[in-house]
Amino acid sequence: MNQTDIETLQSLIQRRRSCRAFRPQQVEHQVVMQMFALAQRTASWCNTQPWQVIVTRGAATDRFRAAYAAELKASSPAPDFDFPGEYQGVYQQRRRECGRQLYDSLGIAPGDRVASQQQTLRNFSLFDAPHVAIITSDRSLGTYGAVDCGGYVSHMLLAAEALGLGAIAQAALASHSAFVRRHFGIDESRLVVCGVSFGYADHDAPANGFYTTRAATDDTVLWHDS
Ligand SMILES: Cc1cc2nc3c(=O)[nH]c(=O)nc-3n(C[C@H](O)[C@H](O)[C@H](O)COP(=O)(O)O)c2cc1C
Repeated sequence: MNQTDIETLQSLIQRRRSCRAFRPQQVEHQVVMQMFALAQRTASWCNTQPWQVIVTRGAATDRFRAAYAAELKASSPAPDFDFPGEYQGVYQQRRRECGRQLYDSLGIAPGDRVASQQQTLRNFSLFDAPHVAIITSDRSLGTYGAVDCGGYVSHMLLAAEALGLGAIAQAALASHSAFVRRHFGIDESRLVVCGVSFGYADHDAPANGFYTTRAATDDTVLWHDS
């Protein structure tokens, strides 16, 4: 066991959190490419590497923001991968808890639906990030293609943290998948898994002022030994 490796990985994993407020400046091209080069090392079934990534910068990011805002008015959500119908039990509790943490940070009172809805809409302005990555999988690879893409997103988020960037995975951006395909000229053979907005985090912003909790490892890792 290499103690330095463990400490480095632990520090990155514990420090990382979803970023919901960004500074405006673009990230240097070579830094962005280093993030993607690290994510490219993600494991995948049969090494299929089903992910493809559309990345924006400059005017292209702003065009996407504006087009998404218009699309929200024009069509209903229709993601390629079904969103959960409802959250029950512990999943509902965890969802509520992280939502409340965000709203408390922003000073949004319980029951203030207007303010919470406005915050939800911030997803589609990419939380003012200068870049967004749209992650797609090959339709033919089905569920496991999406699983591999999930691993890719996780690597991307950690690589972003190591490079001093803020990032957030956004299923919200996959809610209007047909529009996303049309906007970027993505082939019909590809399914939109999620977006990842990234850039330099605004560390002073209230939206970035909290860490979510996790269940105890004993609740999720169940040993069988006899
Ligand atoms: C696949 C995926 C999709 C997500 N979609 C959204 C989203 O649409 N909007 C959002 O604000 N956060 C989204 N998140 C961020 C989660 O809310 C966040 O990861 C979770 O609350 C844990 O917090 P942390 O990332 O700060 O540790 C998503 C995360 C993942 C992994």
